[in-house]
Amino acid sequence: MRLDVVSIFPEYLAPLDLSLIGKARRDGLLGLHVHDLRDFTHDRHRTVDDTPYGGGAGMVMKPEPWGEALDHIAGQGDSRPTLIVPGPGGTPFTQAMARELAQQDWLVFACGRYEGIDERVYEHARSAYDVRVVSLGDYVLNGGEVAVLAIVEAVARLLPGVIGNAASLVEESHEDGLLEYPVYTKPAQWDGRAVPDVLLSGDHGRIARWRHEQRLTRTAARRPDLLHASATLRGDDLPGELVPATPGDVGELLTMTHACWLKETLANRTFDIPAVHETVETLSASLAEWQTYVLRAQGRLVGSVRGRLDGDVWEIGRLMVAPDLRGRGLGRALLSRIEAVAPQAARSYSLITGAASADNQRMYKKAGYRAGPSPIEGTVLLTKRRPGRST
Ligand SMILES: C[S@@+](CC[C@H](N)C(=O)[O-])C[C@H]1O[C@@H](n2cnc3c(N)ncnc32)[C@H](O)[C@@H]1O
Repeated sequence: MRLDVVSIFPEYLAPLDLSLIGKARRDGLLGLHVHDLRDFTHDRHRTVDDTPYGGGAGMVMKPEPWGEALDHIAGQGDSRPTLIVPGPGGTPFTQAMARELAQQDWLVFACGRYEGIDERVYEHARSAYDVRVVSLGDYVLNGGEVAVLAIVEAVARLLPGVIGNAASLVEESHEDGLLEYPVYTKPAQWDGRAVPDVLLSGDHGRIARWRHEQRLTRTAARRPDLLHASATLRGDDLPGELVPATPGDVGELLTMTHACWLKETLANRTFDIPAVHETVETLSASLAEWQTYVLRAQGRLVGSVRGRLDGDVWEIGRLMVAPDLRGRGLGRALLSRIEAVAPQAARSYSLITGAASADNQRMYKKAGYRAGPSPIEGTVLLTKRRPGRST
């Protein structure tokens, strides 16, 4: 890969001589050419900046030296290079962009300083380059050089042969949208702190599962923009966010009810299921009749369940879990919670599910419910005696 960097501080790029990137250059995997923008000026003071038209603070980089420098570089090869102009207003630089840039054979970087480069230079450059403005992050640096060092390092380490062990690239943060798991090395005890036991177990399956859990937990905690906290929820570790529903929950509850009962309509081949016909009004009214609970994970509604007393029977209903979070024991945990809050008078629990809702029936039976005939056609009545009570 060929790299050209234009800067008024060529010495700033000296670190590209060091470490793996320096070695890649010496091995011929990377060809780096650093150009001093002032070499493309023609006045005694080698001027590269001037005051902004329209007034305002700071100086703007003049178009003439930039035009000359970019024309000179583009003329040195046969292919069309990509011109990367670092700037805080650009597309955020990501691992995905690094992967994309690593496929190119020629990258040219234009390091701005002061208030940036005269806008006409971008237009001029488009005739010979694919131009991209790239930001390192939402903050302002003094110049583009630091951004170039970061971009070049991230791109170059993806080139075949630059990193000795290519497998180490695969498991890294951002490669698959998750952050990396915590890493440890010898000694196993240091400063009174031990390496997690699982890593010393030699059980590769357990280690892989632990690492995956760590990646999820870490990503949800540190980068909720990449992974919502709900992604790490498990029934055996239910947060204390199961709270009585309020009228403010009705909109989300309605959406989730419809989403969750879609599966039941398909399984039972009928739309004659009350949950499917629920409206904002009927759901709002139900809050007075039923004790309804909602489970939230960092604000997101992820589950709900409700109960009401009919004689000495605690009727349980509308047990639901967000479709993407099924299979983690959340439904079972919600069932235990709604059983636990049954009033003193309740001697048994009952609930109704579709005759063809096999998954639901399996879960309820595992929780100790017995299936019996239901007064409603096409459904099954499941009942369970409340432990510790006599009938
Ligand atoms: C002081 S900044 C100019 C900021 C510009 N006036 C603005 O508000 O967008 C000078 C130069 O630093 C570089 N730079 C500053 N912040 C950057 C960032 N977050 N990412 C990439 N380059 C940046 C760019 O090359 C920019 O031209």
